[in-house]
Amino acid sequence: MKRNGLLITLEGIDGAGKSTQIKLLAAWLRRRGFKVCVTREPGGTRAGEHIREILLSSATRSLAPLAELALMYAARAQHLDEVVRPALARGAIVISDRFNDASFAYQGFGRRLGERPVRLLDGLICGSTQPDLTLVLDAPPRLALARTQSPERSASHRRFESAGTAFYQRVRRGYLTIARREPKRVKLIRAGRAPAEVQAEIREVVVRFFDAHSKRMKRKQASVRASSKTGHGF
Ligand code: TYD
Repeated sequence: MKRNGLLITLEGIDGAGKSTQIKLLAAWLRRRGFKVCVTREPGGTRAGEHIREILLSSATRSLAPLAELALMYAARAQHLDEVVRPALARGAIVISDRFNDASFAYQGFGRRLGERPVRLLDGLICGSTQPDLTLVLDAPPRLALARTQSPERSASHRRFESAGTAFYQRVRRGYLTIARREPKRVKLIRAGRAPAEVQAEIREVVVRFFDAHSKRMKRKQASVRASSKTGHGF
């Protein structure tokens, strides 16, 4: 499948404030004339949302780490097929609330599965559909976890949150490792500040990314303008 779009992923430990930032980023990009598709993992499709229920439910506390990883990638396979690849083919900017780096950080590091099984599944399922830009909202686990205790989060969906601070420290180390290894793609953004401040930094990073890929982005904006004139835009 031809790929004209752009895949931006937001990552970070639970409670780092991803959803607020994604809403703000998507609105800003739309105002600038881009076609934007916002989605999330695990989930993003009907089948994926069912899998998400299994993954987040406190009722499946005893899920084996490898089963957890396989379910993440099952949901991801469906998500890629139904949402991500078609949107990329239509030239949209896809913003995904978590993607494959979450499996490296949570299952590889957090659950201590190591990178090998994650890489194997990733090669099979994501293949060449990899994020172009990844924003990791970084916060110390204690700070982020305090935010996840808010009453609007259902107590029955705390399988991950109940894993404890040591687990989240490993997850954070996972994200920091990925960022160190791939500094061009993965940008660390300090969370735990006022949302507007975090958003300002995110926009700076995105603008810098666009500048670095300016030819491709200019072509994209031009084609968005042309297609919106003819009414055939995504
Ligand atoms: P998410 O919806 O981002 O939770 P939150 O609203 O708390 O940020 O993700 C749900 C949980 O799934 C989260 O604890 C992280 C975990 N997860 C993994 O462990 N591996 C993965 O590959 C993904 C996508 C998520």
